[in-house]
Amino acid sequence: MTDFITMQQIDAAATFVKSRINVIPEIALILGSGLGDLADAVENPVIIPTDQIPNWPVSTVLGHKGRLVIGKLQGKNVLVLQGRSHFYEGHPVNKLGLPVRVMQRLGIKILIITNASGGLNVNFKAGDLMLITDQLNLLPMAGQNPLVGPNLDEFGPRFPDMSQIYDLELLALARKISDQEGLGIREGIYACISGPYFETPADCRYIRMIGGDAVGMSTAPETIVARHGGMRVLGISGITNTIAPNGDNAASHEEVLEAGLKIVPKLTKLVKGVLANL
Ligand code: HPA
Repeated sequence: MTDFITMQQIDAAATFVKSRINVIPEIALILGSGLGDLADAVENPVIIPTDQIPNWPVSTVLGHKGRLVIGKLQGKNVLVLQGRSHFYEGHPVNKLGLPVRVMQRLGIKILIITNASGGLNVNFKAGDLMLITDQLNLLPMAGQNPLVGPNLDEFGPRFPDMSQIYDLELLALARKISDQEGLGIREGIYACISGPYFETPADCRYIRMIGGDAVGMSTAPETIVARHGGMRVLGISGITNTIAPNGDNAASHEEVLEAGLKIVPKLTKLVKGVLANL
């Protein structure tokens, strides 16, 4: 198998990124579909198109710019990935972890990861934000796990603990900011499917039955890699559409992108509040 990422590939990418920046960021953000505009808030940004970075899994999806934006946000040095890559684009699942490995190689210890997702919990409405308390990752259940392959001992153990995958202190901080800012944030379990098609009604009923509150096509693989490497992760879903309990679901990518734009101001408030208090 040649699909596993190696230390050499990771270091080539990390060395390239380091060569372009003067200050090493301390916090990373990954922005989901339609949520990329949050990167506009970064001050004095250095912008690196990801297709210039060796070995990077480049995003091909409309609504994902495909660049790193590195600069200051709320006085913190941040690295923002504006335009992530997805399994459905054909990237081997191991390669989806490369951006997170680069963050770890830079010494970044905190990851704020966001996505667009469909709300399955009947209490959710389009435009809500959901703090991710846990994840149901249907990709590894089908063997698509970014940690499969030779273990990269430099990052973490062969059999990593995933009992608290989303950081409790970061969750508490995000709740506090939501209260202060009146954001009315939701909480729940994020279910990850491969995509690219939106779920069938039976898929929706199944995912709801096994505990999913929201469903999307990203985040879970990156979070696994982040936790393997000891990062603390705050996960936030932007609920771009809701899925009726009977499975009625006529979602479209255009709808997701449009709703994402409306979610960005709220998400920006939340992220800024969290950063200011870290
Ligand atoms: N399903 C899967 N992924 C998504 C959805 C959805 O309804 N909305 C945004 N991303």
